[in-house]
Amino acid sequence: EEDPRINGIKTKIRVVPDFPKKGIMFQDITTVLLDPKAFKDTIDLFVERYRDKNISVVAGIEARGFIFGPPIALAIGAKFVPLRKPKKLPGETIFEEYELEYGNDRLEMHIGAVEAGDRALVVDDLIATGGTLCAAINLLERVGEEVVECACVIELPELKGRQRLKGKPLCMLVEYR
Ligand code: PRP
Repeated sequence: EEDPRINGIKTKIRVVPDFPKKGIMFQDITTVLLDPKAFKDTIDLFVERYRDKNISVVAGIEARGFIFGPPIALAIGAKFVPLRKPKKLPGETIFEEYELEYGNDRLEMHIGAVEAGDRALVVDDLIATGGTLCAAINLLERVGEEVVECACVIELPELKGRQRLKGKPLCMLVEYR
């Protein structure tokens, strides 16, 4: 009973071996964007899920959450808030750090962007270890948001990233094992 659109999306994701380094199978969503039907189906599947959920904020994670988040936000009538890598946002920010394979990274958010009580959806292209989404959830919760759900196009289930989402549900379209 998988939605028939999902297989079409799956076939447009390009898997690039050994990028950005040896042993990594890179899941490239830019090839989905080249196919207007697959791109639209991706957005539509999320919009159908979230349009009646009273979501007031779509928070998109740099960089590819900036591709999928805004069309979802526009379609459901929510504001879009970018969660950015360090030193990109000009206003007053808060940040959360998270671990990468080598070293740390951080996500920043404008504190004036949201109001306490906003209901947030977090959007990214892919969940691997879940560290990035965990940082995003923490940012939003620190300013009084209710994080309703996380949405990703691709999940790498073997990395068990779901377990790091602080009990928040994850909606994903394509699993890659
Ligand atoms: C990728 C992906 C997610 C994150 C997922 O971004 O787009 O944001 O990794 O990994 P995790 O679940 O293990 O945290 P990347 O770190 O490559 O940054 P970029 O979008 O700036 O290229």
